[in-house]
Amino acid sequence: MRLNGMKRDVIYLDNAATSWPKPKRVTDAMTRFLVEEAGSPNRAGHRMSVAAGRVVQNVRVKLARLFNVDDPRRIIHCFNCTDALNIALKGSLREGDHVICTELEHNSISRPLQAMANAGVITLTRLPIGDQGFVDPDTVRGAITPATRLIATLHVSNVTGIIQPVTEIGHIAREHDLLFLLDAAQSVGVLDVDVVAMNIDLLAFPCHKSLLGPTCTGGLYVGPRATLRPFREGGTGADSAPATQPEELPTRLEGGTPNTAGLAGLDAALDGLDPSQALIHERQLLERLAEAVSDDRRIQIVGDWSPSRCAPVMSLLIGGLSTVDAAAILDESFRIAVRPGLHCAPYIHRALGTFPDGTIRVSPGWSTTAEEIDQLASALREMAIA
Ligand SMILES: Cc1ncc(COP(=O)(O)O)c(C=O)c1O
Repeated sequence: MRLNGMKRDVIYLDNAATSWPKPKRVTDAMTRFLVEEAGSPNRAGHRMSVAAGRVVQNVRVKLARLFNVDDPRRIIHCFNCTDALNIALKGSLREGDHVICTELEHNSISRPLQAMANAGVITLTRLPIGDQGFVDPDTVRGAITPATRLIATLHVSNVTGIIQPVTEIGHIAREHDLLFLLDAAQSVGVLDVDVVAMNIDLLAFPCHKSLLGPTCTGGLYVGPRATLRPFREGGTGADSAPATQPEELPTRLEGGTPNTAGLAGLDAALDGLDPSQALIHERQLLERLAEAVSDDRRIQIVGDWSPSRCAPVMSLLIGGLSTVDAAAILDESFRIAVRPGLHCAPYIHRALGTFPDGTIRVSPGWSTTAEEIDQLASALREMAIA
């Protein structure tokens, strides 16, 4: 199959890890940037430096608009969502703070928090999910103590696709004068993310998933209620005289040369982005898959997926096969790419009863077709044993 001039001989259903293929406008923009303009941004004043600086700024402005951020300087360019979460957590927490997170978290929230708790720097409450697969906002309210400083959670489970009640949680955080950090790894580019309406103080997001940018692009919104210590200190191009990191955003949190080629691709990606259309398309594909396997008891959808309450991520178990074997068979015999295992989210698998083998995760993208989903469904039927 050919798509936008690119040859495809794989059915790629691992877009929750990183989206592929990237639209042609993205690869064209990156090539053009690398060939014509790839200077170090705003460092030198020559035309290539200025051109690279323009790209960095354009992306900042477009991301700010997307998330209803009034001041683009509050958008920090990061290398991925993990980077953004580390900058947010390590920059905001202080000795003695109490933090609330949930069983749903990805290791990029879980591990830094657990390490800080193990070192005795913070105390940590990890809330259970209810039967419906999401955290009840009342349990969040009930976990707040006088020492609580931060609520950190994800928007969409990267295992079940279930959308969390983050507007309610953000409201609770604001009521109690706490910081609210949202991990929007699986929602940006398909769901509305509005930092004002959701009372978000810190928004961590990847740009290489549904925002369709290249790998090694991500971002962090830092709201006016949050003050972060820099996690990475170093050169900022302008303002070189001070002995320590400048106070102003974004330079305070952006030491070092950014991924300008990636940002050139992201700049082009954001121009053609249509999150509501992407959501409709990708949800319809997963509904089609659910329907196609619904009469086969050997194929189980984990976590009660439904289009009204889930983003386009679905977990499956294939009768008689470990998830690693099932994914290997799909890859080798059917050229279908899915992701097996725990998806960096061990606590939710413990809660779902799918630890340690995990699940097969299916995540379609903007270019996935109904025929490809039908091929997956028939491959699953062919493979399933019991
Ligand atoms: C919910 C969630 N948070 C964080 C991340 C980390 O994202 P990145 O790979 O951009 O660091 C992921 C990646 O899959 C994710 O699904």
